[in-house]
Amino acid sequence: MRKNLIVGNWKMHATHLDAIQMVQKLSLRLDFADHDRVDVVVAPPFTALRSTQTVIEADRLMIYLGAQNCHWEESGAYTGEVSAPMLKKLSVRYVIVGHSERRQIFGESDGDVNRKVRAVLAADMTPILCVGETAEEYDAGATKDKVGSQIRAGLKGISPDDTSTMVIAYEPIWAIGTGKTASADDAGGMATFVRETVTDLSGSVGEDVRVLYGGSVKPGNIAGLMAKRDIDGALVGGASLDPDTFASIVRYWV
Ligand code: 13P
Repeated sequence: MRKNLIVGNWKMHATHLDAIQMVQKLSLRLDFADHDRVDVVVAPPFTALRSTQTVIEADRLMIYLGAQNCHWEESGAYTGEVSAPMLKKLSVRYVIVGHSERRQIFGESDGDVNRKVRAVLAADMTPILCVGETAEEYDAGATKDKVGSQIRAGLKGISPDDTSTMVIAYEPIWAIGTGKTASADDAGGMATFVRETVTDLSGSVGEDVRVLYGGSVKPGNIAGLMAKRDIDGALVGGASLDPDTFASIVRYWV
């Protein structure tokens, strides 16, 4: 039984003051039935985590806190970095790891991503491991090679028990922030491929891993994506910044 999961990745948007308003507005648009059906996560920038946590706890909101990145060491001389135990102390539950923007703009390697996955698991949080191909790889028919190798590298040395708790987000890079979405059939097919790859590596826990689709998810395309057997939810960028729009995505079946 995999519970649906919809994650808002706010990227480098929202001050801590904006974040307080955004999470409050979002919570007002969701009810118990929504939370029963979908785990809702917001991932604000680091500077807004503490204030968002405070609102969630004070108002007992059923929204979970996510972070967008972390370092693999617990502490040390890593100027500008934030560790997994620091996030855990802020009641962060989910950490996005290996987002394509981190890989492409900040040069994160598969090895870095694997170290981060381990650090997040060691701090007792859930990694959201992001994978996906570029437009060139898509055109060359290399999508499965790329995604398969990113999954194998990301999960290297992770036990089946730990793997079973994880989330993997398939985000084709050509669909991120472009308004182009993979068709529901293509996205569903890739989600199946992600699950089969995990099953090859780790056995039956492949059925427990939650697989998300990301890339220009909107209220108008979420229902078609969620209808696919292997898609358990979405990683939403731009459309998560507006609480009304994000709430419509969470309430896709209404
Ligand atoms: P958009 O929804 O803005 O395309 O971003 C997707 C994404 O990168 C989520 O992590």
